Amino acid sequence: MNQIAPQPGIMEIALYQGGKASVEGVSNVIKLSSNENPFGPSEAAQEAVRRAAREMHRYPSTDHAELRAAIAEVHGLDARQIICGVGSDEIIHFLCQAYAGPGDEVIHTEHGFAMYRISALAAGATPVEVPEQERVTDVDAILAAAGPKTKLVFLANPNNPTGTMIGLAEIERLAEGLPPQAILVLDGAYAEYVEGYDGGAALAGSRSNVVMTRTFSKLYGLGGMRVGWGYGSQEIIDVLNRIRGPFNLSTVALAAAEAAIRDTAYVERCRSENTRLRNWLAEALAEHGVPSDASTANFVLARFGSPEEAAACDAFLQSEGLIVRRVAGYNLPAALRITVGDEPSCRRVAHVIGRFKAGER
Ligand SMILES: Cc1ncc(COP(=O)(O)O)c(C=O)c1O
Repeated sequence: MNQIAPQPGIMEIALYQGGKASVEGVSNVIKLSSNENPFGPSEAAQEAVRRAAREMHRYPSTDHAELRAAIAEVHGLDARQIICGVGSDEIIHFLCQAYAGPGDEVIHTEHGFAMYRISALAAGATPVEVPEQERVTDVDAILAAAGPKTKLVFLANPNNPTGTMIGLAEIERLAEGLPPQAILVLDGAYAEYVEGYDGGAALAGSRSNVVMTRTFSKLYGLGGMRVGWGYGSQEIIDVLNRIRGPFNLSTVALAAAEAAIRDTAYVERCRSENTRLRNWLAEALAEHGVPSDASTANFVLARFGSPEEAAACDAFLQSEGLIVRRVAGYNLPAALRITVGDEPSCRRVAHVIGRFKAGER
């Protein structure tokens, strides 16, 4: 008998399905499936990468002091309370590894990001899915589900793939009402897209049971560089640093992220273009009979009449060289998540969906 076996929970993990990047037989595709910045990285970030490439033979910094200082300066935070990771995925992973294990529960919402479940299972903990209200986080449902076994509560705000968000007063009520051993993780992967929203930074800075995670993969256009960060009490950040690999971020990735966050003019331009094009896309889809919830992120969750119609529209889009995201795995089989692209891409996706709704298949 084979006695080699993985830890409990590992075999329950379904492999993460990333957004498709190509369609067989179709060239020049437009990829609107992974919520990437359609304008790419800033010139400053590209230049920083070119410069850092000359130092590739050197090991990178272990404490990420320069990047943490840049993040702290731009966001008005305490650099000692920041940890950087290989994408915010790694911060999510550290949190589960450090705070949850067999017998513990990790709460995520009904349509929450897939990595919460994956990281909870990888740590041997039990993921607990809590219903949302019409694709919006339901604080009362989370509070009702939280108990003595709850160690972590993951909340993406804005949420992916719904695009909806809840206000800070509701988040504060949630943090206040959780059992004392539980940490509320506010995932702010899309926080930068929301004008005037700090992603929960002030809350994470003042409450010992709140951690905020952020990423360079979306608005900053660095998905391929894999840089994210977390912000919380010094005690929690100290715990997470103990399990972080000393050289988890490359010299090149660190340089790109630092330049990207300091290029505030570029960030602002990308943010305002996203808002303009997202609103245009949502309205254009609605005119074609495809509703969506008011999105606060860089994508729109387009709702169709049935799972079959969503699948047929996805196939039609692909045949026209447009790749969007099926979200059946997020309990949303009748929806397609469409990343807000540049203006020609938004016009093209709206036009093709219009043709589909008019009966063309
Ligand atoms: C809600 C949410 N959190 C976290 C992530 C992870 O981002 P990254 O690991 O690229 O920082 C994503 C990426 O899609 C996301 O949608």
